[in-house]
Amino acid sequence: MRDLPIVRSVADLRASTRDLRLAGKSIGLVPTMGALHDGHIALVHRAKDENDLVIATIFVNPTQFGPNEDLKAYPRDESGDAMKLAGAGCDLLFAPGVAEMYPAGFATSVAVAGLTDHLCGVSRPHHFGGVATIVTKLLLQAGPTRAYFGEKDFQQLQVIKRLARDLDIPAQIVGVATIREADGLALSSRNRYLSADDRATAAALPRILRETAIALAAGSAVAPILDAAKQRLVEAGITRLDYLDLCDEANLQPLGAAIPGSRLFVAAFVGKTRLIDNWPVL
Ligand code: PAJ
Repeated sequence: MRDLPIVRSVADLRASTRDLRLAGKSIGLVPTMGALHDGHIALVHRAKDENDLVIATIFVNPTQFGPNEDLKAYPRDESGDAMKLAGAGCDLLFAPGVAEMYPAGFATSVAVAGLTDHLCGVSRPHHFGGVATIVTKLLLQAGPTRAYFGEKDFQQLQVIKRLARDLDIPAQIVGVATIREADGLALSSRNRYLSADDRATAAALPRILRETAIALAAGSAVAPILDAAKQRLVEAGITRLDYLDLCDEANLQPLGAAIPGSRLFVAAFVGKTRLIDNWPVL
């Protein structure tokens, strides 16, 4: 298999896409933090199907991690990732260092109000500011025709759609369905932190989400159904529940009744590992 070209500076990224851009070729961008799994690779395949050229990025973005989160321990495997990307047909990898993305004196940030008030925005107050800022930079640096993000991180996807719209960034933001293990657990770079016991417990998340979504879609009252689901998650061995909420998927505001476009969102600790997932209701 051919080696994947890797660039590490914004100048080199722009230089390597300039001629293609002038020739009117479309560019698909797949931003990641590396430690790639089949969920990331599904984004690359989709980008490959829809564009002339696919650029993946790997950057473990320090500004989206809280002080007690796993920035230092975050898994890194650039050579393994590069092989997977090449195998999926990716054309170029942009893997900058921290000084390239946040040079001395960096002082600007992007904040998306409203969409970040609930769900992960509560327990991770600086997270979406970090995500919005780095994704804005990546979109401006790579200038893609389309950029691909997973529904696994549904709130992140909505934040990115909104910032692209509000800041007139001329890239189409494309959401891609969540890739899951056979037992339903959403693929995540953080799943590798799970012990065998925790991994078995984690399967309760998608199972209980799916069953709760069916009950809500059938018209059951929301509060008692959510209370029962929370109880079942605890009984299944979830260490701590951050949230289990029914929200409108467009604005992410909590809902008291299932309506078209409503979605269940969960964040829970299994052992020390925080996992998130979501499931459509109606
Ligand atoms: P990361 O967690 O590496 O995820 C990169 C992309 O892969 C995101 O769009 C995420 O939603 C998607 N993804 C992860 N697991 C998936 C799965 N099981 N199925 C489908 N897609 C999945 O999300 C980030 O990085 C960062 O916040 C980033 C957007 C790169 C900004 O730093």
